[in-house]
Amino acid sequence: MEKHVLKAEAITKIYGAKNGLQYKALEGIDLQIGKGEFVGIMGPSGSGKTTLLNIMATIDKQTSGQLEINGVRPASLPDKQLALFRRRELGFIFQDFNLLDTLSIKENIMLPMVLDGLPIKEMERRLDDSAKLLNLTDILNKRTYEISGGQKQRTAIARAMIHQPAILLADELTGSLDSKAAKDVMESLEQLNEQRGSTVLMVTHDPFAASYCRRIVFIRDGKLFSEIRRGSNRQAFFQQILDSLSVLGGNFNEISPSRH
Ligand SMILES: Nc1ncnc2c1ncn2[C@@H]1O[C@H](COP(=O)(O)OP(=O)(O)O)[C@@H](O)[C@H]1O
Ligand SMILES: [Mg+2]
Repeated sequence: MEKHVLKAEAITKIYGAKNGLQYKALEGIDLQIGKGEFVGIMGPSGSGKTTLLNIMATIDKQTSGQLEINGVRPASLPDKQLALFRRRELGFIFQDFNLLDTLSIKENIMLPMVLDGLPIKEMERRLDDSAKLLNLTDILNKRTYEISGGQKQRTAIARAMIHQPAILLADELTGSLDSKAAKDVMESLEQLNEQRGSTVLMVTHDPFAASYCRRIVFIRDGKLFSEIRRGSNRQAFFQQILDSLSVLGGNFNEISPSRH
């Protein structure tokens, strides 16, 4: 049986309000992600994407249901252990990069390894390796204000994977990029997935970015709606995504069908 990196079972999230009103943001979500998978989550605004990603990122807790990452149930861990689990097992990629402007590109990428206290030789080996894979070798000594948006996001990807987490979680990672940089970043993420077997879960509004995934899960009104898998042709998958979105309905603010 294939090993699951992430297993969500009957995840429900109810937000409570001070006036006593409750809002069910997620209902009965079942999702399993195998090692080496590249999965996208799409859905209209307000459908629960961020809520779901935050639960998987162990930043928020489900109201009911079970979440297991690498065989561990994060909800069962005390706060300190949970923070350590998050740092070791998860890699985060954000829309706005979240790089530290006072550090060089190299220092930004090395930060998670420094926190883990890895030997210098091992840090250098991994830095070299990921810089080559993500085409960052020539800019390692630059500062964040000296590089492009695409380069910033590739730096953020290197930082997210350098400590070899169980899964990479990305929220709208192309949301602040123009179409050329978005292509550049998605090609890098695809390479990481294909050549290193990194497991990736990303939330996106953008059908172009989503077309790099191998599987897309659509959610509507907090429930799983449908799922599609990519064959060999990315262009055909892009069209399939647009078709699925039109069946899904709802409001997509940042759709840009011109990119393909
Ligand atoms: N902290 C919160 N308290 C109450 N309701 C929330 C909170 N966060 C999100 N919601 C509601 O839950 C629903 C899903 O939100 P969200 O997960 O942000 O959707 P998406 O990311 O798909 O746009 C929305 O109706 C939103 O208003
Ligand atoms: Mg959101």
